[in-house]
Amino acid sequence: MQLKFLPSFVKRKGRITKRQELGLNELENFSISTIENINIEKEKFSQCHLEIGFGNAENLCSMAKSYPDILFIGSEVYASGVGSLLATIKEDNIKNIRIFNQDIRILLDKNPEEVFDKVVIICPDPWPKDRHHKRRLINEEFLRMLYKTIKPAGVIYISTDWEHYAESIKNSLEISNYFSNTKTEEKLTFSKFENRGIEEGREIFEFRYIKN
Ligand SMILES: C[S@@+](CC[C@H](N)C(=O)[O-])C[C@H]1O[C@@H](n2cnc3c(N)ncnc32)[C@H](O)[C@@H]1O
Repeated sequence: MQLKFLPSFVKRKGRITKRQELGLNELENFSISTIENINIEKEKFSQCHLEIGFGNAENLCSMAKSYPDILFIGSEVYASGVGSLLATIKEDNIKNIRIFNQDIRILLDKNPEEVFDKVVIICPDPWPKDRHHKRRLINEEFLRMLYKTIKPAGVIYISTDWEHYAESIKNSLEISNYFSNTKTEEKLTFSKFENRGIEEGREIFEFRYIKN
């Protein structure tokens, strides 16, 4: 299929472990493919949060366990991450996670509706080389997609450990004017990529914004 967006991720081959493979066999029981699916699923929950690019899903699983009344939609294209998440869902009997395992822009772009109370993006791929900046996920076009799918007064949380990307995210947020700076609760743990950034001496830049 010809995708209308430039890929914002590197398709990693990565070996799939037995545990991940067993997890992936369960995908159809936990996957959602449209905003309409989400609208139906979220009826049983008080809120619906989306985490984009969950990686190995530590944040997603810890949030889902802490807030069983919230439906969490996890989006990731990386098969071993999806497999690990599915294995954890089965092992820990987590009931409030659903998965979209393709480019999130496919979901957000089609028949958008205001369904999410919160969207979380932790360390989107930084694409540090100048010629790759156009592949960065967060730009004005993407913020427009979020704007259309976040509920009134819904919030976004974005972090990055790349200063240049942080400047570009801030510019996109300010120019697009879909969201305003706000305060939300502190994040208690760091993700694998945030920890790697800290170990390599980089600062973590965080953005907490609310829908205008
Ligand atoms: C740098 S990793 C960060 C993973 C995790 N959030 C962390 O901080 O440890 C970025 C992740 O975003 C995923 N990703 C990038 N573009 C995406 C997209 N358009 N839709 C869904 N996931 C995407 C990648 O596959 C990758 O696993």
